Amino acid sequence: MKIFLDTANSEAIEQWSYLIDGITTNPTLLAKEKNNPTQQIKKICSLMKDKEVSVEITEKNPQAVYDQAKKIAQLAPHVVVKIPCYAAYYPIIKKLVEENIPLNITLLFSLSQGLFMSKLGVRYISPFVGRIDDIDGDGIELLYRLREMIDRYGYQTQILAASLRHLQHLHNAIGAGADVATIPPELLTKATKHILTEQGMELFEIDWKKLGTPHFPEL
Ligand code: E4P
Repeated sequence: MKIFLDTANSEAIEQWSYLIDGITTNPTLLAKEKNNPTQQIKKICSLMKDKEVSVEITEKNPQAVYDQAKKIAQLAPHVVVKIPCYAAYYPIIKKLVEENIPLNITLLFSLSQGLFMSKLGVRYISPFVGRIDDIDGDGIELLYRLREMIDRYGYQTQILAASLRHLQHLHNAIGAGADVATIPPELLTKATKHILTEQGMELFEIDWKKLGTPHFPEL
């Protein structure tokens, strides 16, 4: 399973680059950074070396999205172009797949959207778990159903669980068999820790000190 960091912040990327497999960005995340977006994406790509960086289109009209997607793909060899799962974009998604542009289809909320994108052969689909939960749906259930559908019909598309907001989301995405989970830096920080690990270490330290042995091992 791959873990991506959902951020455009270069400090966070530098901190976690040894542990993560890629980056997902979106217009909201890029807008939070002070830098010019092209420069920021180039910086992220160089920090990530050959690991994948998803970069989202910002145009609206399908032809403009197609042209922009081709330009975004030229930013670096490991850039994956993020395109919303919007009905009017289906024909250009097909065309871009035929031209071997790696795509991450974002803002995906249903099993049928997932099926169509898998049939078109995109690299990733990004179901937005948290945003489904926000409207009283069950984002994790969608992950299970997408996993079952992709395995049953033998599609190559990978499930990139997105909009994961807390540890339970992450753990359930792992349990559902997502190929990738993308998480914000704060959630990655939490996920690397456990209170029982910290408490256990303190207890071992207390007990160890009772022994009064300053040097260990003695070689
Ligand atoms: C993923 O690609 C998206 O950028 C992200 O996960 C969206 O998360 P949000 O719904 O918390 O904004």
